[in-house]
Amino acid sequence: MRSKINIIYISLSGNTKNFVERLSDYLKTTKGVTVESMNVKDLKGETFPVKEPFVSFLPTYLSGGNGVQTGNKEVLTTNLGDFIAAYDNYQNCYGIIGSGNRNFNKQFCLSARQYTERFGFPMVGEFELRGTSRDIERIAESILQHQENFLVSAEIGSQNSVGGK
Ligand SMILES: Cc1cc2nc3c(=O)[nH]c(=O)nc-3n(C[C@H](O)[C@H](O)[C@H](O)COP(=O)(O)O)c2cc1C
Repeated sequence: MRSKINIIYISLSGNTKNFVERLSDYLKTTKGVTVESMNVKDLKGETFPVKEPFVSFLPTYLSGGNGVQTGNKEVLTTNLGDFIAAYDNYQNCYGIIGSGNRNFNKQFCLSARQYTERFGFPMVGEFELRGTSRDIERIAESILQHQENFLVSAEIGSQNSVGGK
């Protein structure tokens, strides 16, 4: 198992931030894995290249939908999409975790699903509001698995490109 996970997320009212903090504690104490995390909200629109693999967390803030027919105007969280798009950072992103509120029905976690289509990385998990301890365990396992798959295919890719020279 790799000893570090990078998380790039956005949290406006603190639920996602709280989940990431509890997840970080869980990974450290049960798996010995260190988490480095960054809330894109604090960057105030600044972008820069990310050189290491990372996973993202995106709460859903949509305007205009009614929860039955889905709304599609992302508001307040677009800085995360801009950050992932900048410098092709999405190429180092191995997946996304969506969060939201199930009261929004079909719109639950919709923004994260929209990002999977926009950037081509997979959905790693979903949780509601601050999530339960079971969500933490489930999503920790899923992140570790997705990170491992991503790193193994990157290693195979680099071996092939060396061999092909
Ligand atoms: C204006 C507004 C719009 C929202 N729209 C959705 C939505 O479309 N789908 C959803 O699942 N949750 C929606 N939510 C719920 C948030 O995604 C949820 O509260 C989330 O935990 C907020 O994360 P944060 O505290 O990290 O910012 C909305 C919340 C607000 C305030």
